[in-house]
Amino acid sequence: MSVPALQVIDITKYYDVRVRRITTSMDFRNYISVLRGKRDRQMTALDHVNFTIEPGLVFGLLGPNGAGKTTLIKILSTLVLPDSGQALVFGTDAVKHPRAVLKMLQAVLAEGWGFERRLTGRQNLEFYATLYGIPRESARKRIEELLEFCQLGESADVMFQKYSTGMTRKLLVGRALLTDASVLLFDEPTSGLDPNSAADFRGFLKNVLVRERGKTLIWATHNLYEAQQVCDTIGVLNKGHIIATGTPSEVRNAIAEKVNMTITVQGNGVEPGPEGFEGISHIGGVTKVETRKDPESANLMLAVEATRDVDYNRIFETLSSMGQKVVGIEASQPSLEEAFIRLTKGDKS
Ligand SMILES: Nc1ncnc2c1ncn2[C@@H]1O[C@H](COP(=O)(O)OP(=O)(O)OP(=O)(O)O)[C@@H](O)[C@H]1O
Ligand SMILES: [Mg+2]
Repeated sequence: MSVPALQVIDITKYYDVRVRRITTSMDFRNYISVLRGKRDRQMTALDHVNFTIEPGLVFGLLGPNGAGKTTLIKILSTLVLPDSGQALVFGTDAVKHPRAVLKMLQAVLAEGWGFERRLTGRQNLEFYATLYGIPRESARKRIEELLEFCQLGESADVMFQKYSTGMTRKLLVGRALLTDASVLLFDEPTSGLDPNSAADFRGFLKNVLVRERGKTLIWATHNLYEAQQVCDTIGVLNKGHIIATGTPSEVRNAIAEKVNMTITVQGNGVEPGPEGFEGISHIGGVTKVETRKDPESANLMLAVEATRDVDYNRIFETLSSMGQKVVGIEASQPSLEEAFIRLTKGDKS
């Protein structure tokens, strides 16, 4: 069995909440407490978070503002220590062996680029290669390759201060790939990009990094469209808890407690009327049945609302025993957006 690219095991992180008191009578004790930023309480940013990611997949960390996405990415990239729990990168503990882990995993954060404005893109990468201890000759070759790979060949010798947001993102990817890490963490990778650049960048990350190079990506976002487009699996994070995991459609379906379907039956002279389909409304799980004529044919349409555990066969058996011939079925699904809003509001009604 292959080792998972990443295992997050029961990670919990608290932050101290400090209140800086403003006081008019600045006596000595108040002064000290202001300087110290007196700790008042702790807030839980991550609460026993667990998930596993297999190599070569894109895992979306989807959550609203303040859910804990950046905190988790910082823990995984060894910038912040968890209060408890473990993160294993290809089986290696990120807290115990940060140097080994940083050879396998790199983060591209939303803030704090850390590039020198008066150096070119290439020089910035050279600077980081030195910092990462990559020997000069192999660094030169690697940087050349990465600049091409990240589609920055033409702007390699342009000063960083002239880089657009899109170019900056690509340079960040180049920097993250200097160590040839196989797990890449992206925090809101397309924020600040216009829709076309965002689509290009998504395509680049998914098609080139993941599909061609076999990298594993964690993609923190609150953008549902993006999550649905690029992620193989999603973990929904809310107030520090993972509240759902699965493929985008599994997450969508997990909260769909009601199913709505439209069953079209052939108009065959058996006159409808709501009472004509009484039998169906008595089937366990069916909560509503409405009928109407299809305006484009003589067919009859039944709008059936039911709970997820409804026995579909019984519906069709009942129709068949009534002499009705089913000619079409359509089931509506909730959108990922609906799922997300319901999940993160804690409203499953
Ligand atoms: N350094 C810190 N000190 C204290 N509290 C913090 C710190 N960093 C984050 N928090 C708090 O932890 C919680 C999670 O924050 P985090 O930045 O991880 O969320 P996020 O999901 O990345 O949100 P966003 O979508 O807004 O970027 C928030 O309530 C935030 O205020
Ligand atoms: Mg964030």
